[in-house]
Amino acid sequence: GSTVTIPFTNGLSEETNIHWHGLLVPAAMDGHPSQMVTAGQSFNYTFKIDQAANMAWYHPHPHEKTGKQVFTGLAGMFIVESPEEKALNLPSDAYELPLVIQDKRLDTTGAIMYSPTLEEVMIGYMGETITVNGVSSPFQPVTTRMYRLRVLNGSNGRMYNLALSNGNSFMVIGSDGGLLPVPETVTSLLLAPGERADLLVDFSKIALNSEVYLQSNSFSGVSSQGSQTFKILKFMVNKTETDTFKMPTSLNSITPLSTASATKTRTFDIGVMMNMGSGGHGGTMAMKGMHTINGKIFNMDRIDESVALNSTEIWEFDNTNGDEPHPMHLHGTFFQVSSRTGGRGNILSHEKGLKDTVLVMPGEKVRIITKFEKVGKFVFHCHNLEHEDDGMMLNFEVK
Ligand code: C2O
Ligand code: CU
Ligand code: CU
Repeated sequence: GSTVTIPFTNGLSEETNIHWHGLLVPAAMDGHPSQMVTAGQSFNYTFKIDQAANMAWYHPHPHEKTGKQVFTGLAGMFIVESPEEKALNLPSDAYELPLVIQDKRLDTTGAIMYSPTLEEVMIGYMGETITVNGVSSPFQPVTTRMYRLRVLNGSNGRMYNLALSNGNSFMVIGSDGGLLPVPETVTSLLLAPGERADLLVDFSKIALNSEVYLQSNSFSGVSSQGSQTFKILKFMVNKTETDTFKMPTSLNSITPLSTASATKTRTFDIGVMMNMGSGGHGGTMAMKGMHTINGKIFNMDRIDESVALNSTEIWEFDNTNGDEPHPMHLHGTFFQVSSRTGGRGNILSHEKGLKDTVLVMPGEKVRIITKFEKVGKFVFHCHNLEHEDDGMMLNFEVK
């Protein structure tokens, strides 16, 4: 409900801006790639927070430079609170841990290095050093009680198959757009770049003075990553504490949008890759536009899809013929995942609430449904930032 003004000054020697990923803001404040703040210039972002409580994040959106700017540090997260959510008495303060998971590649001086090769443009730029809130080899003392972990995958291309090292289950209570209708119990959760997960972990099930890790389990379905299990964050259970937390039976009411209410279905083929050298280009020219949506690469001024204000639509992302994962993200709206066929074949626990980014694995076709309630020009794109910078992004205009 609050109106915020965020004065922004670009201290870089190149253009940048801020996109509020997970906030429904007017198009003029959304950080579209055409709304740049040039070096040395300032801009006041101002908008009213008019949505459910959630965890959102912010990062720049300059076309072809988003990957570099995010990887080298321009990203962060914030939390929107509400009285409704407060009333649930979820673990808070010291028991609510915001965790931004990223991977970094460092040079010999310890500086962050961003220089994707052609192959890394293909699969996404990944770093060997995993960080949480900017810290490598992080650890967190905890007590024997319930904690709320608010996780953002702020990586360019790496996915994390979140799990506890002792195999214990944990609960998913929310995702991109806020709380799920009811808590879901899982033993692992695959989180793609841009996605958030709101988790509850019960450390009373872990012996005092022992350690447990949040880790990424190996996963299948992608050839470029997922073959290894690796640690993300060490929890040291070092104090006995009893809590009175009671799991609410219902967290949030989300009215499912019926497919019958959709006035239009749009299909997007995200599984076709343009061959290097196609279109008569050779050499480095061929590096652009290997990743496409419906065969197109991003054009700042072209409106690719025109949407009627307040209409409900189904958008289908088809990766049937693809061999790379694509976390597809829409600006200007939250959506519901209405179906997934192929690949994992179902709607996952953390997809049972409102989303703004949905992972479409190779072989999958994912349908989302949403009502477009914000006027103006927005982008939708793959949140693998190398794919995005390579042109895997289109404009849509709501009017
Ligand atoms: Cu995280 Cu276009 O956004
Ligand atoms: Cu966004
Ligand atoms: Cu992609």
